[in-house]
Amino acid sequence: MKNSVLIMMMFLCFSCGNVDSKDWEGCELKEPTYTPTLHEPSELAVLMNEMYTLSDSVKGMLQNDSGVVFDRTFEEIIGAQSVNDRVEEESFTVMANAYINAIKSFNETERGNKKMKFNSMVDACMNCHEQICFGPMSRIKKLYITP
Ligand code: HEC
Repeated sequence: MKNSVLIMMMFLCFSCGNVDSKDWEGCELKEPTYTPTLHEPSELAVLMNEMYTLSDSVKGMLQNDSGVVFDRTFEEIIGAQSVNDRVEEESFTVMANAYINAIKSFNETERGNKKMKFNSMVDACMNCHEQICFGPMSRIKKLYITP
């Protein structure tokens, strides 16, 4: 929690200098840096959907198996092609690493703390989405597990 507050504060600072931030409509930039083909999601969008699916299934397993781990840590989100050019900013890498570290920390923690660590991982999803991509937040919120 302390970490996520720190990260959020860092991002508030970064966005102060971002004069373009009012042009953002959630995840989509009006002029993407590449030409998206119709019906073809970006690499990052594909990964995001895999992250969602895997998190949802880990959440389900966690109800019965407190030893469950993520078999992927999604390092590829850094450098993946995206419709959102804020992924080029250092702040994206910082938030992406916070998410990747939250998965690792979930995997490494003892059984009794798994649910808490799972929710910290969802916090890491929400932190990034709050900053640069509001659209899927209501969906991501559903991942939170009741401790
Ligand atoms: C470091 C930033 C960051 C983190 C962390 C992050 N996201 Fe995303 N997410 C994005 C961006 C940016 C997009 C927009 C896709 C693009 O830019 O091509 C996105 C898109 C999505 C989408 C929509 C995909 C689509 O089909 O368009 C979903 C769902 C999603 N994220 C879920 C999650 C979940 C669940 C987590 C945590 C397990 C998560 N995200 C963590 C930045 C992030």
